[in-house]
Amino acid sequence: MKEERLNIFPSFTDIPSEYKIELPIEQTEYLINGEIRVWNGDKRKVYSPIYFKEGNSFSNYIGSYPMMDEATAIDALNSAVQAFNHGKGEWPAMGVQKRIECLKHFVVLMREKRSEVVNLLMWEIGKSLGDSQKEFDRTVDYIIDTIEAMKNLDRSSSRFVIESGVIAQIRRAPLGVALCMGPYNYPLNETFATLIPALIMGNTVVFKPSKLGVLLNRPLLEAFKQAFPAGVVNTVYGKGNNVITPIMESGKVDVLAFIGSSKIADQLKKQHPKPHRLRSVLGLEAKNPAIVLPDADLDETVKECVLGSLSFNGQRCTALKIMFVHNSIIDKFLEKLSAGIDALKLGLPWDDKVNITPLPEPGKVEYLNELIDDAQKHGANLINKSFGGGKSNKTLFYPGVLYPVNSNMRVYHEEQFGPIIPVIGFDNIDEPMQYIIESNYGQQAAIFGSDQSQMAELIDTLVNQVCRVNINCQCQRGPDVLPFTGRKDSAEGTLSVSDALRVFSIRTLVAAKGTDANKEMLSGIVRDNKSTFLSTDFIF
Ligand code: G3H
Repeated sequence: MKEERLNIFPSFTDIPSEYKIELPIEQTEYLINGEIRVWNGDKRKVYSPIYFKEGNSFSNYIGSYPMMDEATAIDALNSAVQAFNHGKGEWPAMGVQKRIECLKHFVVLMREKRSEVVNLLMWEIGKSLGDSQKEFDRTVDYIIDTIEAMKNLDRSSSRFVIESGVIAQIRRAPLGVALCMGPYNYPLNETFATLIPALIMGNTVVFKPSKLGVLLNRPLLEAFKQAFPAGVVNTVYGKGNNVITPIMESGKVDVLAFIGSSKIADQLKKQHPKPHRLRSVLGLEAKNPAIVLPDADLDETVKECVLGSLSFNGQRCTALKIMFVHNSIIDKFLEKLSAGIDALKLGLPWDDKVNITPLPEPGKVEYLNELIDDAQKHGANLINKSFGGGKSNKTLFYPGVLYPVNSNMRVYHEEQFGPIIPVIGFDNIDEPMQYIIESNYGQQAAIFGSDQSQMAELIDTLVNQVCRVNINCQCQRGPDVLPFTGRKDSAEGTLSVSDALRVFSIRTLVAAKGTDANKEMLSGIVRDNKSTFLSTDFIF
């Protein structure tokens, strides 16, 4: 390997001006009760995955954000509780059409901040320029699609039903206060994928950005403030123990939307004093396998496997995290896989056509090295070592392929969430199937092959183990209108544009015996627009 491939970290002065940020970014602002307040307390320092040379030394310090205390977190919660006001608050009582107008206003304001947010995505989590832009645009599209889905939902509820002499109108009503927490790998998109449906359904929200990827939300605070009534969106920052534990222990959270680890999700749920009152929407770990059959188109398969395991350096919950390859083709597969990885470009997020970028999690490179050492100790080889597999420079890590992997190795069980590809050879399809059955996770699988009967048999078994079976392509969440969920420790609840609206609401109905007096009353209420709920208004 040419060592200079890893030497990517620039002098600050050499960074193209459009991607330079003014350093440091000291965020003091937070949003509570419709006010952008200023924090004067402790701060958490923000370190970028991108090191840059200043003088003779490297730095990666880019700023800080508030480390809130318990009292401030409770202020944020109470502001959301007050804005909901048992369903009588301005927002939940507003009616769908008006809420949609607020969301549209937010989209206009959000779009103005595109380049600022995209830049911060690159600096805070090391996501490439193209993927950062995609994340922003996908999020805007998600909001627009959610608005359309909301209109459809409302249209189908804009009528009365008459059943066994009972007249009823059925709608979906908000649940109350939602606590939304997203992950660092999609800090904008996955946070908004719960925040937006929660809002449009009439809930009020406390939102905590993930530990990495906080500053990129700052440009949107003003948009939240302007687009929504006071208290509808509130932000908290800081250590989970200080800010999230008291919020959960208060018992005032009605919906927990959390994307992260099952361990933390379980702890949070237990902190709620009335767990049965808490609705949870969780996106958790996964260890999605690829199964490569002897008759797979090897070039296409390797292309998908490289993409599936290494897009955003493997830091996707949907990434392919273990590969089972039929022994009859394993040598060719490994050869092509190593070559496919070698063709990837290592670099800074804004470099043209870059694939592998610096990793944002502190200690991640050390963790990946531990996984490699452990696997080697138990008999695996680092197949692409001569290309540079497993080499690193600061936060940049050249992807490593480990083979043959077995159950004694940590990488067989742990979700590496990074650029390491464990490969296992198999003779009998029962071997990968047994792995999937015994796994703690059940999000997706990818199968590669061309024999229709064998593929059909695999599909029929896998659909009862995971929640999406991908045929001759990598695992992924999109398009966002498709349901996204998982079994076992991989998820709770289903997210898609339309499913998310259901998750953040509950079916509620008004029913009356079909007497003349009741008919007269219902007609009068509807005719004179006396109720927001009882209404046959149609949103065009
Ligand atoms: O990290 C998990 C994301 O939901 C994956 O989304 O498959 O579109 O990259 P993606």
